[in-house]
Order: sequence, then C-alpha cells, then structure tokens
Amino acid sequence: MELLHFLRSAVCSLFVLVSLLNVSAQALALSQCEFPAIFNFGDSNSDTGGLSAAFGQVSAPAGETYFHTPSGRYSDGRLVIDFIAESFGLPYLSAYLDAVGSNFTHGANFATAGSTIRPQNSSLSQSGFSPISCNVQFYQYYGFRTRSQIARKRAQVFEQLLPKDEYFNKALYTFDIGQNDLTAGYFVNMTTDEVTAYVPDLLGQLSYIIKSIYDQGGRSFWIHNTGPVGCLPYILDRLLITAGQIDSVGCASPFNEVAQYFNLKLKEAVAQLRKNLPLAAITYVDVYSVKYSLISDAKKNGFEHPLRACCGHGGKYNYNRHVGCGGKITVNGTQILLGSSCKDPSVRINWDGVHFTEAANKFVFDQIVDGSYSDPPIPLKMACHRQNQ
Ligand SMILES: *[C@@H]1O[C@H](CO)[C@@H](O)[C@H](O)[C@H]1NC(C)=O
Ligand SMILES: *[C@@H]1O[C@H](CO)[C@@H](O)[C@H](O)[C@H]1NC(C)=O
Ligand SMILES: *[C@@H]1O[C@H](CO)[C@@H](O)[C@H](O)[C@H]1NC(C)=O
Ligand SMILES: *[C@@H]1O[C@H](CO)[C@@H](O)[C@H](O)[C@H]1NC(C)=O
Repeated sequence: MELLHFLRSAVCSLFVLVSLLNVSAQALALSQCEFPAIFNFGDSNSDTGGLSAAFGQVSAPAGETYFHTPSGRYSDGRLVIDFIAESFGLPYLSAYLDAVGSNFTHGANFATAGSTIRPQNSSLSQSGFSPISCNVQFYQYYGFRTRSQIARKRAQVFEQLLPKDEYFNKALYTFDIGQNDLTAGYFVNMTTDEVTAYVPDLLGQLSYIIKSIYDQGGRSFWIHNTGPVGCLPYILDRLLITAGQIDSVGCASPFNEVAQYFNLKLKEAVAQLRKNLPLAAITYVDVYSVKYSLISDAKKNGFEHPLRACCGHGGKYNYNRHVGCGGKITVNGTQILLGSSCKDPSVRINWDGVHFTEAANKFVFDQIVDGSYSDPPIPLKMACHRQNQ
C-alpha cells in the first residue's frame, strides 16, 4: 500500500512538473522578441537614404510632413520601415551607403530606390533602376557584418557606431523588394507572359540571398510581398492600357495580376525556405491586400483621390514622368517649381506617383503589425518565434 501511495504521488508530482514545464515553454514561446537591430533589404519603399547618398539627394518637398527635410526618403514623411523601427524603440535605420552622420549600432539599411532582385543589364541613367540590386545589398551586408567587428576591436569610437556581434543573430531581417523587377520587363515592352516567365528566377535569387544571411547567423525574417503596382500613377500614366484592363477601382489589372503571381510564388518560396532553414522564423506579410483595400476603400479609411499623386504635375493622375515631385523648369532664366505638393498629404495615399504618403505608410503599418496579414499569423513583436506547422 505504501509503495502504491508513493508511486501515485510520484506520478502526480511528475504530472505537475510536466505541466509546469509545458506552461513555461508556452510562456517562453509567447514572450516578445527583443530585436536589438534591424537589417533591411529593399527598394524605394524602404530606402532611408541609400540612393540619395550615392546618386544625389531626393529633392524637397519630400520629407515636408515629418523630417522637414527630404531625409533620403521618397515620401512626405516616414516609411513602413520607420514605423517598424519605432515600434521596437529603435532609432531610424541609417542607410549603409550614407557616409555622413550615420549610426549603425542598431542596424543598417541596404535598400536603395530603384533596386531590383535581379541585377539589371542597364545603367541607372539608361533605365532608372539602381545598380544596388539585392545581391549587391547582400555583399554590402556581408562586408558590414565582418568588418564592423574588426573596427569595433580597433577603436572605441566604433563601439558607439557599429552593432555588437551578437546583434546579427538576434536582429530582425526585413525585406521589401520585387516591384521593380516586374516593371523592368514592362518598361522594355515585354508582354505579361514574358514578365511572368522570369518570376521563378526572381524568387530563386531572393531565396538564395535569404539562405546566405541565414548562413551568416540571421534567424528572424520579415518579408513583405509586393504591392498593387497597377494602382500607381507611374504605371497608369506610362504604360498603354486599354479600357478593358482597368478594374472597378481604376487600377490596371494585368500589372496587379503579375504582382499577385509574384506574391503566390514568394509565399511558396518562403514555405520552402522554412523547410530548408530549420532554425529560421520567416514571416510572409501580405502588404498587397492592405494597400489594395486602402486604395479601393479610400473614403472609408479617411483618404481621397486614391489614384492621384499628391506631389506632381498635371494629367489625370497629377503625374508627369518628365517633371516629377520637386521638378522645376527654367523660364527666361527663372526657376519655377512645377512638381509641388498638395494641400493636405495626410488625406492622400499616393505621394509622388510611385510611392506612398506617410499617412498611407502608417495605415499599412497599423494593419500588418498585429499579424492579421501574416503567414504564420504572428504579430511583428513575435517574429523571432518559429511556428512549426
Ligand atoms: C542580364 O544578362 C544575363 C546574361 O545574358 C542574363 O542571364 C540575365 O538574365 C540578364 N538580366 C536581366 C535582368 O535581364
Ligand atoms: C549611436 O546610437 C546609439 C543608440 O541610439 C547611441 O547610444 C550612441 O551614442 C550613438 N553614437 C554616437 C557616436 O552618437
Ligand atoms: C517600347 O515601345 C515604345 C512604343 O512603341 C517605343 O517607343 C520604345 O522605344 C520601346 N522601348 C524599348 C526598350 O524597346
Ligand atoms: C519670356 O521672355 C519673352 C521675351 O521677353 C516673353 O515674350 C515671354 O512671354 C516670357 N515667357 C514667360 C513664360 O514669362
């Protein structure tokens, strides 16, 4: 009897112990991630000064709403990546290429406006696409990762400017790239079938870069899909569209369909990466849906003229590819600003025909931060936890 009683209570204690362990394991899994740094890869949607540093500053009135100076951003204010940094109490990311006043202790931004996943076989002046394609951004990251640690050992000043070694493993790696790869084909008159045909190649190259970062110790990845490019003035104005290709919102369907195809393939690529990289937490974020519903339900969301650029010059979309936002012409020796800003950017979605306003970026951030548009459906603050499904 004694023995039975002992066994019973032993089993009972064991059960309690196991439940306790289970609870604490769950609590652990649900704890918020403490990302000490963010490393971002992308295009103008998340460029905080890269293209400006290398190829000339974005001109005013960009930045007018928040920074009161262009600040290298293609917007009137903050970008989604800025709201992400803010939400973790981290400083805004300095552009890796920016040699003046940068501080990389809590991350670096490798994105430049006009960047593509695939290197383009044309120069910036020929095509408008940045030579800092995603593979180049990775080379820069790789150099930064190793050389920052050498510099930190060399002189104390660099401890105030460069990340600690352990931050590279604990950091959040964010991606927002692909839009320019799709438009690049159309701008050289490719058909939708031809553009669609190279989408798998884009995702192969992007996957390889993510794996390479994983090999360097990266573990948490937050990957935005590409937006409804067919709702942007620079596409609506520039590419010939027949009436039948415009949807009920006023967006160009073929371009949005290609974007959605890219997103489908991106989601598949992310699922494959989860299998190949067993220690990685990879979150796919459907910004396409957020942006499309923002544009289609503009009024309900407190916005107006969803397809018109706030800052631009003329035409149906207030967009002119020859006179952009901040664009000037010289008449009789006097400079005249043609690409001026609208009265109230806070009720507008599109900033300059290509990019979103700060108000729209804030809207997108607010929608995606809680995981409603994520796969797996985990909030930004939990993006370090791998979900095994
Ligand atoms: C650039 O040229 C190379 C070699 O011909 C080709 O493999 C690659 O796909 C081209 N890139 C683009 C973006 O067309
Ligand atoms: C860089 O930023 C970090 C964090 O905000 C700060 O502690 C550090 O003093 C800054 N470095 C310099 C040189 O100002
Ligand atoms: C694309 O087509 C347009 C209109 O036919 C033409 O003007 C332009 O030169 C073409 N662009 C390229 C890169 O072939
Ligand atoms: C520029 O100067 C010429 C000659 O004085 C004048 O005829 C023309 O109207 C001026 N143009 C503008 C836009 O002021």
